[in-house]
Amino acid sequence: MSAHGCPVVIGGGAAGLLVALCLAPRPVVLLCGGTLGFETASGWAQGGIAAAVGPDDDASLHARDTLNAGAGLCDAAVVRRIIEAGPWAIDFLARLGADFGRHADGALALGLEAAHSRRRIVHAKDATGAEIMRVLSQAARAAQHITILEHSSATGLAARDNRICGVHAATPAGALSIGTDCVVMATGGVGGLFAHTTNPLRATGTGLALAARAGADLRDMEFVQFHPTALACGLDPMPLVSEAVRGEGARFTDGAGARFMQGGDLAARDIVARAVAAKYAADEPVFLDARAIPAQTFPGIFSTCRAQGIDPATQPIPVRPAAHYHMGGIAVNADCESSVAGLFACGEAAATGLHGANRLASNSLLEAMVTGRIVARAISGRAVRAGNITPEAPRLLEATPLIRDICSKYMGIYRDAAGLQTAIAQLRPLAARCAPALAALLIAQSALRRRESRGAHTRTDFPETDAAQARSTTINISDLTATGLAA
Ligand code: SIN
Repeated sequence: MSAHGCPVVIGGGAAGLLVALCLAPRPVVLLCGGTLGFETASGWAQGGIAAAVGPDDDASLHARDTLNAGAGLCDAAVVRRIIEAGPWAIDFLARLGADFGRHADGALALGLEAAHSRRRIVHAKDATGAEIMRVLSQAARAAQHITILEHSSATGLAARDNRICGVHAATPAGALSIGTDCVVMATGGVGGLFAHTTNPLRATGTGLALAARAGADLRDMEFVQFHPTALACGLDPMPLVSEAVRGEGARFTDGAGARFMQGGDLAARDIVARAVAAKYAADEPVFLDARAIPAQTFPGIFSTCRAQGIDPATQPIPVRPAAHYHMGGIAVNADCESSVAGLFACGEAAATGLHGANRLASNSLLEAMVTGRIVARAISGRAVRAGNITPEAPRLLEATPLIRDICSKYMGIYRDAAGLQTAIAQLRPLAARCAPALAALLIAQSALRRRESRGAHTRTDFPETDAAQARSTTINISDLTATGLAA
């Protein structure tokens, strides 16, 4: 099959796979950075997928919790639309064979995570993402209409007159340029920009940078979510200790074994992450005491800890915050189409308005599933054309230790104008040839512009939330060039 004139989906996580599967029987090309089904943030998700399916729950309660967590920046219509599709997402996965935890009567066993007012986390023990990716990638491999290019990454997008016209990619067979006026960015997040992250190190915001170069607007870029409990054991990336462990009773303790979390161990993630980060800033270690929890409840997490010489059954688990999720991304409309015609985005790469300033736990796999279906439906009604594009020199895709150091020092949980300006000055010379540096620069610039603290964005020089800034903002590469910020 010739790839020219086909929709091209960039990213082999849950969102990208949903688009490709839901496009059947239309031919589609899927670029996947590694081996399909492995090394994606979706596959590493432990907690699960939030859906209002319990007897005491409904979509309006789930929506209310999502809006509360989002600190005034969620789009209420988007929240409703995505959350109402929760039962569909669970059913879709169950029909593909996903083996979610169930009670003896067959009802789904529902976990609890931070800031959820009900038990609504559908899970497969502590390896939900792996189970979801198992069934999605099995289905994608079996599908005749999907051409899967593994170990292949987009290195550039071609656009003309604000319309996408192709993709440049690096594949094991060499450089490839595909002419198409329909491209889907499902490239995930930005955790790999930071020295401490729970994401695959490939998650460096390259999809966002390539979309920005093509002229797309980006939204909410300043909002990076730090998970408070990554396993502090020296591994890079860091294994996660799921919030679900706290949902089952684990508690934060300090070096002396005393509890310290004001507002509860299951308060919203931004609040808890700030409290843990403050301890680290004061050179005090933080632990999660999970000794009362049976090992079989979280077999993956307990065995990862044991492999690192920590036995959660007998000793508290050392934890620290790590970059985990990006609420911002490519600004999209109700069809998940960006400001560049024919360029779509879904999952973590998109900023849909679901998460606002702070994502509610386990809403991301839900968003990946639902936005993947939205994109497929939008594309299904369109003709896709091939076109000629001229090959171009690839941009660097890896985040260097220098970039990770800059992001961690100046763009972490606590930020201020001086640090952000330093980050901008250091990133600017790198951004023209290095996509992660451009993604980082866009985050820094957006963070500098938001002169308040809201959700996951904490400015020590503007510690209050300012009602006048209760709106999403977008940034475009022309904003950087206009201010001399892009090389
Ligand atoms: C977790 O299991 O704690 C992570 C869930 C999430 O980030 O949605």
